[in-house]
Amino acid sequence: MKLLSAPLQGLTDVRFRRQHHLQYGGIDEYYAPFARLERGRLRDKERRDLLPERNRGIPTAAQVIAKDRDEFARLCDLLQRMGWDRIDLNMGCPFPMQYHSGRGSGLLPHPDRVALILDEMRQRPQVSFSIKMRLGLEAKDECMRLLPLLNEAPLTLVTMHPRLGIQQYKGSVDMEAFESFYEGCTKPLAYNGDIRSTDDITRTVKRYPRLEAVMIGRTLIDHPQLALLWKSLQKASNKT
Ligand SMILES: Cc1cc2nc3c(=O)[nH]c(=O)nc-3n(C[C@H](O)[C@H](O)[C@H](O)COP(=O)(O)O)c2cc1C
Repeated sequence: MKLLSAPLQGLTDVRFRRQHHLQYGGIDEYYAPFARLERGRLRDKERRDLLPERNRGIPTAAQVIAKDRDEFARLCDLLQRMGWDRIDLNMGCPFPMQYHSGRGSGLLPHPDRVALILDEMRQRPQVSFSIKMRLGLEAKDECMRLLPLLNEAPLTLVTMHPRLGIQQYKGSVDMEAFESFYEGCTKPLAYNGDIRSTDDITRTVKRYPRLEAVMIGRTLIDHPQLALLWKSLQKASNKT
């Protein structure tokens, strides 16, 4: 079972990723916070965070947020030119400014636009693409309507955070809706949301044995040894 570090704008920049990787470990891949286009270019802060020389030796996925195929293609061009061949698409951001402009969770109600973006991925076989998503922007059946497209897409991982975009981080995660998605998803799947302890990881892995990975966000900031601790406990229990 892989453990992933979730992207958190303002928190998991390259300094965090490097320090965590060197001092704690236990994380199989770090997701960089989303990069977006500003006047056709990457913003300076995001470009600096994604400079290959600063990320060398740290297993990292770059993440982009885009409203349509053109914007996605432009971001991929910029990142591939920098040397990135591992890119995640953000389809979960719950900030109103993003979803009102059709980015992040604002993509979820639009299978037509998602289909075009997935088609753009097909044109770039040298890149390992994944997506990070929510159940929907306003309704939890939005992810189910996307499933046939996702199952056919060249995705190496789908990460599901089972809340709606409009919920932001309020209310509890909807495990019933996650279960329906888990049953229908034929791509490698990661679970993300409210993992706070080694017991939470163990419970999730036992309940969903086909999961490829568990992604940890906010807890890793306060409890940076969580991933390594869980892996050590696993190793010890496999020996007994
Ligand atoms: C401050 C903050 C910034 C975030 N930035 C991003 C981001 O850049 N990209 C993304 O996909 N998700 C982002 N998220 C969502 C997290 O990656 C994650 O999905 C969410 O926190 C739920 O996981 P957790 O309960 O383990 O924290 C952000 C969340 C927070 C609280």
